[in-house]
Amino acid sequence: MRTPIVAGNWKMNLGNNEAVELARGIAKNCPESGVKVIVAPVSLHLSSVSQALATAPVLLASQNMHWAESGAYTGELAGPMLREFGVRYVILGHSERRQLFGESDELINHKVQSALAQDFRPIICIGETLQEREGGRTRAKVEFQLRAAYAGLNAEQAQRTILAYEPIWAIGTGKTASPEQAQEVHFFLRSVLKDRFDIKTAQALPILYGGSVKPQNFASLISQDDIDGGLVGGASLKVESFLELARIAL
Ligand code: 13P
Repeated sequence: MRTPIVAGNWKMNLGNNEAVELARGIAKNCPESGVKVIVAPVSLHLSSVSQALATAPVLLASQNMHWAESGAYTGELAGPMLREFGVRYVILGHSERRQLFGESDELINHKVQSALAQDFRPIICIGETLQEREGGRTRAKVEFQLRAAYAGLNAEQAQRTILAYEPIWAIGTGKTASPEQAQEVHFFLRSVLKDRFDIKTAQALPILYGGSVKPQNFASLISQDDIDGGLVGGASLKVESFLELARIAL
């Protein structure tokens, strides 16, 4: 059985006080067990957010991480720095990083390998554009991205990752993939994982859906066999909607 996961990607939103307030609100009423709750504030707020979360069962993620452990990389963030603030998860390969910051499949694979070597759990994002979906290229695209991100990994390493299927056309647009559309891709991804690794890995690895997840559509998504949770942008910025998602996942 895979534990459901609700992960909030705060992206480049909220001031420090707002981030602290959101973290406190989540900490106060977060379910104690039965769902893994993760938040990813901007790196500048990791210190204050980790304090605000205190002993609550909420895990911290970084929205990005450089592959090197230190060095001359102006503006970047290294794993050992993130670990100082209790970060255990790193979002890698988000479509915004790929599209707006030119991150390639090779770079993402490099970061995945480095994150695993430093004992982080990467949340690896993949997903197709609207053009690719309409052109019938969804499977080819996500299979390519999956194989590229997992290049060089063994089954034990793969089992320490979380995969997130985020169709680009559904991110921040209010258009969600239907539960059936999402399930079809998740099922396919699990079959690729089985082919690339083994059945145990394919069954153990959590696959999250991301793209306009809200309390109104989440129950029907997470009830699908191969959807293990959500990677949430907009609806993770409010205490009530985020906690509602966590409760729905229980
Ligand atoms: P929205 O939930 O705002 O569509 O964002 C999804 C996302 O990109 C999470 O990483």
